[in-house]
Amino acid sequence: MKFNKTIEVKHIFNKISFKYDFLNSLLSFGLHKLWKRKLVNLLEPLNGEDWADLCCGTGDLAFLISKRVSPMGSITGVDNAKDILNIAKKKAELKKNKFIKWEIKDVLEIDDSSKNFDGICMSYGLRNLNNVEEGIKKVFYLLKNQGRAGFLDFHHSTKNSLSNIFQKIYLRLVVVTISRLFNLSQEYAYIEKSIRNFPKKNELIKIAKEVGFKKVEYRTVFFGQMGILILVK
Ligand SMILES: C[S@@+](CC[C@H](N)C(=O)[O-])C[C@H]1O[C@@H](n2cnc3c(N)ncnc32)[C@H](O)[C@@H]1O
Repeated sequence: MKFNKTIEVKHIFNKISFKYDFLNSLLSFGLHKLWKRKLVNLLEPLNGEDWADLCCGTGDLAFLISKRVSPMGSITGVDNAKDILNIAKKKAELKKNKFIKWEIKDVLEIDDSSKNFDGICMSYGLRNLNNVEEGIKKVFYLLKNQGRAGFLDFHHSTKNSLSNIFQKIYLRLVVVTISRLFNLSQEYAYIEKSIRNFPKKNELIKIAKEVGFKKVEYRTVFFGQMGILILVK
Protein backbone atom coordinates (compact mmCIF):
# COMPACT_ATOMS: atom_id res chain seq x y z
CA MET A 1 0.00 0.00 0.00
CA LYS A 2 2.81 2.41 0.96
CA PHE A 3 4.53 1.73 -2.33
CA ASN A 4 1.32 2.52 -4.21
CA LYS A 5 0.90 5.91 -2.55
CA THR A 6 4.42 7.00 -3.55
CA ILE A 7 3.82 5.96 -7.16
CA GLU A 8 0.38 7.63 -7.25
CA VAL A 9 1.68 10.89 -5.76
CA LYS A 10 4.71 10.98 -8.06
CA HIS A 11 2.46 10.40 -11.05
CA ILE A 12 0.14 13.22 -9.99
CA PHE A 13 2.95 15.76 -9.58
CA ASN A 14 4.70 14.79 -12.78
CA LYS A 15 1.39 15.11 -14.61
CA ILE A 16 0.43 18.53 -13.20
CA SER A 17 3.98 19.93 -13.26
CA PHE A 18 3.49 21.94 -16.47
CA LYS A 19 0.60 23.89 -14.92
CA TYR A 20 1.63 23.66 -11.26
CA ASP A 21 2.80 27.24 -10.65
CA PHE A 22 0.07 28.75 -12.77
CA LEU A 23 -2.72 26.81 -11.03
CA ASN A 24 -1.22 27.38 -7.57
CA SER A 25 -1.43 31.10 -8.08
CA LEU A 26 -4.84 30.99 -9.74
CA LEU A 27 -6.44 28.65 -7.21
CA SER A 28 -5.05 30.42 -4.15
CA PHE A 29 -5.61 33.88 -5.66
CA GLY A 30 -1.85 34.37 -5.27
CA LEU A 31 -2.05 33.86 -1.50
CA HIS A 32 0.21 30.80 -1.40
CA LYS A 33 3.14 33.17 -1.93
CA LEU A 34 2.18 35.14 1.18
CA TRP A 35 1.84 31.97 3.26
CA LYS A 36 5.22 30.71 2.07
CA ARG A 37 6.79 34.06 2.93
CA LYS A 38 5.18 33.88 6.35
CA LEU A 39 6.69 30.44 6.93
CA VAL A 40 10.15 31.65 5.91
CA ASN A 41 9.83 34.76 8.11
CA LEU A 42 8.93 32.58 11.09
CA LEU A 43 11.94 30.35 10.46
CA GLU A 44 14.38 33.25 10.05
CA PRO A 45 17.06 31.57 7.92
CA LEU A 46 20.41 33.35 8.29
CA ASN A 47 23.33 33.91 6.00
CA GLY A 48 25.80 31.04 6.43
CA GLU A 49 23.21 28.45 7.44
CA ASP A 50 22.57 25.17 5.63
CA TRP A 51 18.93 24.58 4.71
CA ALA A 52 16.78 22.08 2.84
CA ASP A 53 13.43 22.55 1.13
CA LEU A 54 11.94 19.04 1.18
CA CYS A 55 9.20 18.18 -1.32
CA CYS A 56 10.35 21.38 -3.01
CA GLY A 57 8.22 21.04 -6.16
CA THR A 58 8.99 24.05 -8.32
CA GLY A 59 11.14 25.47 -5.52
CA ASP A 60 9.24 28.50 -4.15
CA LEU A 61 10.62 28.08 -0.62
CA ALA A 62 14.11 27.27 -1.88
CA PHE A 63 14.18 30.54 -3.83
CA LEU A 64 13.03 32.53 -0.81
CA ILE A 65 15.57 30.85 1.46
CA SER A 66 18.42 31.20 -1.00
CA LYS A 67 18.13 34.99 -0.63
CA ARG A 68 18.53 34.68 3.13
CA VAL A 69 21.32 32.10 3.48
CA SER A 70 23.56 33.17 0.60
CA PRO A 71 26.39 33.69 -0.01
CA MET A 72 27.91 31.76 2.91
CA GLY A 73 25.28 29.05 3.48
CA SER A 74 23.48 26.54 1.31
CA ILE A 75 20.01 25.47 0.29
CA THR A 76 19.08 22.14 -1.27
CA GLY A 77 15.71 21.47 -2.86
CA VAL A 78 14.65 17.84 -2.79
CA ASP A 79 11.77 16.24 -4.68
CA ASN A 80 11.16 12.79 -6.10
CA ALA A 81 9.12 13.85 -9.17
CA LYS A 82 11.44 14.49 -12.11
CA ASP A 83 9.16 16.75 -14.15
CA ILE A 84 8.32 19.17 -11.36
CA LEU A 85 11.97 19.33 -10.28
CA ASN A 86 12.91 20.15 -13.87
CA ILE A 87 10.60 23.16 -13.69
CA ALA A 88 12.42 24.27 -10.51
CA LYS A 89 15.73 23.92 -12.33
CA LYS A 90 14.43 25.92 -15.32
CA LYS A 91 13.20 28.67 -12.98
CA ALA A 92 16.65 28.74 -11.35
CA GLU A 93 18.26 29.15 -14.79
CA LEU A 94 15.90 31.99 -15.67
CA LYS A 95 16.60 33.69 -12.35
CA LYS A 96 20.33 33.01 -12.86
CA ASN A 97 20.34 31.32 -9.47
CA LYS A 98 23.18 28.81 -9.33
CA PHE A 99 23.20 28.78 -5.55
CA ILE A 100 20.42 26.25 -4.99
CA LYS A 101 21.32 22.56 -5.27
CA TRP A 102 18.55 20.33 -6.57
CA GLU A 103 18.29 16.65 -5.67
CA ILE A 104 15.88 14.10 -7.03
CA LYS A 105 15.13 11.83 -4.12
CA ASP A 106 12.38 10.39 -1.97
CA VAL A 107 12.46 12.43 1.23
CA LEU A 108 11.99 9.32 3.35
CA GLU A 109 15.07 7.80 1.73
CA ILE A 110 17.52 10.64 2.46
CA ASP A 111 20.48 9.27 4.34
CA ASP A 112 20.19 10.60 7.93
CA SER A 113 23.86 10.39 8.71
CA SER A 114 25.15 12.45 5.80
CA LYS A 115 23.26 15.66 6.50
CA ASN A 116 23.37 18.25 9.18
CA PHE A 117 20.97 21.07 8.48
CA ASP A 118 20.38 24.26 10.43
CA GLY A 119 16.90 24.39 9.02
CA ILE A 120 14.39 22.42 7.00
CA CYS A 121 11.16 23.57 5.46
CA MET A 122 8.35 21.81 3.67
CA SER A 123 5.29 23.35 2.07
CA TYR A 124 2.40 21.11 1.08
CA GLY A 125 4.72 18.11 1.25
CA LEU A 126 4.18 16.36 4.57
CA ARG A 127 0.60 15.44 3.66
CA ASN A 128 1.85 13.69 0.53
CA LEU A 129 4.39 11.43 2.19
CA ASN A 130 3.69 7.77 2.73
CA ASN A 131 3.87 8.27 6.45
CA VAL A 132 3.66 11.64 8.20
CA GLU A 133 5.35 10.41 11.37
CA GLU A 134 8.28 9.02 9.35
CA GLY A 135 8.53 12.40 7.61
CA ILE A 136 8.74 14.31 10.91
CA LYS A 137 11.27 11.76 12.23
CA LYS A 138 13.37 12.15 9.11
CA VAL A 139 13.41 15.93 9.55
CA PHE A 140 14.44 15.48 13.19
CA TYR A 141 17.39 13.26 12.23
CA LEU A 142 18.50 15.61 9.46
CA LEU A 143 18.63 18.66 11.73
CA LYS A 144 21.49 19.82 13.92
CA ASN A 145 20.74 20.36 17.59
CA GLN A 146 18.75 23.60 17.93
CA GLY A 147 17.91 23.25 14.25
CA ARG A 148 14.47 24.46 13.23
CA ALA A 149 11.86 23.13 10.87
CA GLY A 150 8.69 24.56 9.45
CA PHE A 151 5.80 22.91 7.64
CA LEU A 152 3.05 24.69 5.78
CA ASP A 153 0.04 22.69 4.70
CA PHE A 154 -3.73 22.64 4.58
CA HIS A 155 -5.17 22.72 8.09
CA HIS A 156 -7.22 19.63 8.83
CA SER A 157 -10.07 21.26 10.67
CA THR A 158 -12.73 19.66 12.83
CA LYS A 159 -15.50 18.01 10.85
CA ASN A 160 -18.46 20.32 10.19
CA SER A 161 -16.68 23.38 11.60
CA LEU A 162 -17.11 26.53 9.54
CA SER A 163 -13.54 26.35 8.20
CA ASN A 164 -14.05 22.68 7.32
CA ILE A 165 -17.23 23.43 5.39
CA PHE A 166 -15.56 26.36 3.63
CA GLN A 167 -12.56 24.19 2.75
CA LYS A 168 -14.75 21.46 1.23
CA ILE A 169 -16.75 23.95 -0.81
CA TYR A 170 -13.58 25.67 -2.00
CA LEU A 171 -11.84 22.40 -2.94
CA ARG A 172 -14.87 20.96 -4.73
CA LEU A 173 -16.32 24.04 -6.39
CA VAL A 174 -13.27 26.16 -7.07
CA VAL A 175 -10.26 23.83 -7.25
CA VAL A 176 -11.78 20.84 -8.99
CA THR A 177 -13.93 22.95 -11.31
CA ILE A 178 -11.08 25.19 -12.46
CA SER A 179 -8.60 22.32 -12.78
CA ARG A 180 -11.15 20.51 -14.98
CA LEU A 181 -10.57 23.23 -17.58
CA PHE A 182 -7.01 21.90 -17.84
CA ASN A 183 -8.02 18.26 -17.75
CA LEU A 184 -6.51 17.88 -14.30
CA SER A 185 -9.62 17.55 -12.11
CA GLN A 186 -8.83 14.02 -10.94
CA GLU A 187 -5.36 15.09 -9.83
CA TYR A 188 -6.69 18.11 -7.94
CA ALA A 189 -9.52 16.10 -6.38
CA TYR A 190 -6.72 14.23 -4.61
CA ILE A 191 -6.15 17.25 -2.30
CA GLU A 192 -9.39 16.70 -0.37
CA LYS A 193 -8.67 12.99 0.07
CA SER A 194 -5.16 13.72 1.28
CA ILE A 195 -6.35 16.27 3.86
CA ARG A 196 -8.80 13.69 5.22
CA ASN A 197 -5.87 11.35 5.90
CA PHE A 198 -3.62 14.10 7.28
CA PRO A 199 -3.24 14.38 11.09
CA LYS A 200 -5.10 17.21 12.79
CA LYS A 201 -3.28 19.95 14.74
CA ASN A 202 -3.15 18.09 18.08
CA GLU A 203 -2.00 14.85 16.46
CA LEU A 204 0.79 16.69 14.61
CA ILE A 205 1.88 18.33 17.87
CA LYS A 206 1.83 14.97 19.65
CA ILE A 207 3.88 13.27 16.91
CA ALA A 208 6.47 16.08 16.91
CA LYS A 209 6.85 15.94 20.69
CA GLU A 210 7.14 12.16 20.67
CA VAL A 211 9.78 12.34 17.95
CA GLY A 212 11.81 14.55 20.31
CA PHE A 213 11.34 18.17 19.24
CA LYS A 214 11.84 20.51 22.21
CA LYS A 215 9.71 23.33 20.90
CA VAL A 216 6.50 22.70 19.00
CA GLU A 217 4.16 25.43 17.80
CA TYR A 218 1.17 25.30 15.49
CA ARG A 219 -0.74 28.24 14.12
CA THR A 220 -3.51 28.55 11.63
CA VAL A 221 -3.46 30.96 8.74
CA PHE A 222 -6.19 32.45 6.59
CA PHE A 223 -9.25 31.72 8.74
CA GLY A 224 -8.19 28.21 9.61
CA GLN A 225 -7.57 27.09 6.04
CA MET A 226 -3.82 26.57 6.33
CA GLY A 227 -1.62 25.42 9.19
CA ILE A 228 2.01 26.17 10.02
CA LEU A 229 3.94 23.83 12.29
CA ILE A 230 7.20 25.21 13.68
CA LEU A 231 9.63 22.87 15.42
CA VAL A 232 12.93 23.32 17.19
CA LYS A 233 15.18 20.33 17.90
C1 LIG B 1 1.92 20.00 -3.36
S1 LIG B 1 3.54 19.88 -3.97
C2 LIG B 1 4.36 21.16 -3.06
C3 LIG B 1 5.50 21.74 -3.81
C4 LIG B 1 6.13 22.97 -3.16
N1 LIG B 1 6.72 22.66 -1.90
C5 LIG B 1 5.11 24.06 -3.03
O1 LIG B 1 4.72 24.37 -1.91
O2 LIG B 1 4.68 24.61 -4.05
C6 LIG B 1 4.13 18.43 -3.18
C7 LIG B 1 5.49 18.02 -3.68
O3 LIG B 1 5.97 16.93 -2.88
C8 LIG B 1 6.66 16.03 -3.70
N2 LIG B 1 6.71 14.76 -3.01
C9 LIG B 1 5.68 13.99 -2.61
N3 LIG B 1 6.12 12.89 -1.97
C10 LIG B 1 7.47 12.98 -1.96
C11 LIG B 1 8.50 12.15 -1.45
N4 LIG B 1 8.22 11.02 -0.82
N5 LIG B 1 9.78 12.54 -1.61
C12 LIG B 1 10.08 13.69 -2.26
N6 LIG B 1 9.15 14.51 -2.77
C13 LIG B 1 7.86 14.17 -2.63
C14 LIG B 1 5.83 16.04 -4.98
O4 LIG B 1 6.54 15.53 -6.08
C15 LIG B 1 5.48 17.51 -5.10
O5 LIG B 1 6.42 18.20 -5.87
